[in-house]
Amino acid sequence: MKIQTSSLRRAAGIALGALGLLLGTAPLTAAPADSLRLIPRPASITWGAGHAQLPTTLTVSPLLPQVIQTQLSQQAGIKVKATTKAPLLSVRLDRRLAGREAYRLSVGPRGMQLLAKDSSALLQGGQTLLQLVGQYGRRLPQLSITDSARFAWRGIMLDVSRHFMSADFIIQLLDEMARYKMNRFHWHLVDGGGWRFPSEKYPLLTKKAAWRTIADWDSWWQHDRRFVDEGTPGAYGGAYTKDDIRRVVAHAARLGITIVPEIELPGHSNELPAAYPELTCKGKWTFDATDVCIGRESTFRFFEDILGEVLELFPSYYIHIGGDEAAMNHWGSCPDCRARMKQEGLKDEHELQSYMIRRIERYLNGKGRQLIGWDEILMGGLAPNAAVMSWRGEEGGITAAKAGHKVVMTPGNYVYLDFYQRESKGEPRAIGGFTPLEKTYSYNPTPAVLSPAEQQYILGVQGNLWTEYVEDEQHAAYMLFPRLLAIAEIGWTPQAERSYPDFLRRVAAQLPGLKARGINSYPLKRIAVYSEIDTARREVALCLSSEQPSAEIRYTTDGTMPTASSRLYTGERISSRDSILLVARLFRDGKALDFPEVSYRTDYHLGIGRPIYYNEGCQWNPKYPAGGARALVDGLRGTPTYLDGLWQGFTMPLDVTVDLGETKALRHVFAKFMQEKMQWVYMPHHVELLLSDDGTNWRSLGQRVTTTDDGDFLPSFETFSFPIAERARYVRVKAANQRSAGHFIFLDELVIQ
Ligand code: ACM
Ligand code: ZN
Repeated sequence: MKIQTSSLRRAAGIALGALGLLLGTAPLTAAPADSLRLIPRPASITWGAGHAQLPTTLTVSPLLPQVIQTQLSQQAGIKVKATTKAPLLSVRLDRRLAGREAYRLSVGPRGMQLLAKDSSALLQGGQTLLQLVGQYGRRLPQLSITDSARFAWRGIMLDVSRHFMSADFIIQLLDEMARYKMNRFHWHLVDGGGWRFPSEKYPLLTKKAAWRTIADWDSWWQHDRRFVDEGTPGAYGGAYTKDDIRRVVAHAARLGITIVPEIELPGHSNELPAAYPELTCKGKWTFDATDVCIGRESTFRFFEDILGEVLELFPSYYIHIGGDEAAMNHWGSCPDCRARMKQEGLKDEHELQSYMIRRIERYLNGKGRQLIGWDEILMGGLAPNAAVMSWRGEEGGITAAKAGHKVVMTPGNYVYLDFYQRESKGEPRAIGGFTPLEKTYSYNPTPAVLSPAEQQYILGVQGNLWTEYVEDEQHAAYMLFPRLLAIAEIGWTPQAERSYPDFLRRVAAQLPGLKARGINSYPLKRIAVYSEIDTARREVALCLSSEQPSAEIRYTTDGTMPTASSRLYTGERISSRDSILLVARLFRDGKALDFPEVSYRTDYHLGIGRPIYYNEGCQWNPKYPAGGARALVDGLRGTPTYLDGLWQGFTMPLDVTVDLGETKALRHVFAKFMQEKMQWVYMPHHVELLLSDDGTNWRSLGQRVTTTDDGDFLPSFETFSFPIAERARYVRVKAANQRSAGHFIFLDELVIQ
């Protein structure tokens, strides 16, 4: 942000002097820059010296979009009168403004002016005015904002298949998106949890594939995956009517938001055989019927018919066709799919999938639309004009951009909103993963490996809310907010103008407004713990920061629950040469806030910085190297997410030896493993500790067998602990995973005390 109060005052005076209408002027007190609450942060603001008092009836140019006029009166209680005759808020289009959706909004002593490049910019400038009025009421600070969008695509995806969400909820979500200048709503309308799109040609979809036996997706998915007819007593589900969709699309259009519908193919289609079993290779419903048959022409007729109905309702240029995670488990044995592969010269299932995507692309292109799909559509050859949504990290997006395809960045470990947003204790169940607000906000959608020319293919950024574990709208809002605000700012604000502490302050200021508008936002309750290993001083240090700028952190280091008289955290490094079990909690006015405490164990242990050997060909999996050869003795402990770069993954039995350099007295060796079944990460069956004085002759200290249930889909952690009273120089740990090939075991650290 640039603060140039004096020169600004002059500029604003000149720009606004011509309006010729006098507002009541308030005493001259400059608005402090840290009073800014706007989200997203504008590209540039200059503050004037005084305030401008708006009258109770505000005259505005008729060019101000109707939605903005309506909200000014509904939310701010300002009577709005449109007039062309010297309105207090003058609005003008100016196509010369530089930047995407560019606008300039000035509040001066004699009136307000909005200059906008185009119709979208009119809305964006109008939303800025609404936020200002929401914060300051009718007494606005004099200022001038020059602003434009960093990216064209600023999106949110909502999965309404795993759990159904009403059209009214989506409209409420659109209002919030527009407030924060987001402009793409990706509607994941169909998936294995239920079909929600109303088709006239295929009416059985919403009659037989939209209602299921059990409301909770996870229980149902593990139980029978069966659908029942619409109207069955006790059934869970739902579908939209065409009128619902028209209402949503029209509302979005007024707000400048494009609705991007997704019709998922060829995978994630478990619901289809409940209505039209001939769409699958086996020609009937089966528990594992995930994909449609690509061999039969009737499959293409079906999707072209459905897409035809979709195009009638949705004006979006981009149409999402899914393309992710096809199981490909029946194509190889299906005579029709095999015949197709032979006839088209397709060498494997990926090319078969690619064949289908290309045909669907030709269909969409023929109707003047463009195909977008998840990054798996790169496998087997990308369709010529397709855009890619990169979700398995950024790699797919990078590959696509280098090949000259448009890309929307939506990497799971930053912008997946079904992940936990704080340590899981006390949080509603999530799918695993960890994307706290700070992590989400830290995302920059233009990877440095792309040249500036290649970066031009990055359309923007999108947050995705999958709803396997999100059972209703209240919970959906909790997962969406406030991380949606972070994604809005990533998409809009120049990278150089973004700072997390400043954003966090503004988010905290937005929470009361979200609550007043009926949004069940997550209340910013995390205390983040940052650890630092100092090998020179042989100590570990912890630093804390909270998401609640106005709350106090109090903590203990002996594992006891902090009270109002426990130590107050004031920014110090909490250091130790041995072990700390830190417990920290938020307080305000001497009272603990009603949020769970966070606890964090860390150890400066004997193994840190010592040589470690991977025995018998044992090697970490290249997908999960963590810190490479030192990862298990670097003192860094994993967080709750498998994607944090701190967990080292193995698809073979683990066998490592740490050389302590000399024989030392040992009292305890332990290792914490993670299970994250959704990501194929399992507990080892058992862990064994061995000690040696010479590195050749080993004595076993026994095995610990896991106590973790391998049927449990929840992420879980188990510490395999060996209290000992021994002397040794070499410490060796073996862990065996006796499940299928391709399954991982994950370990963050070998702690040797
Ligand atoms: C995805 O998360 N399967 C796109
Ligand atoms: Zn088939």
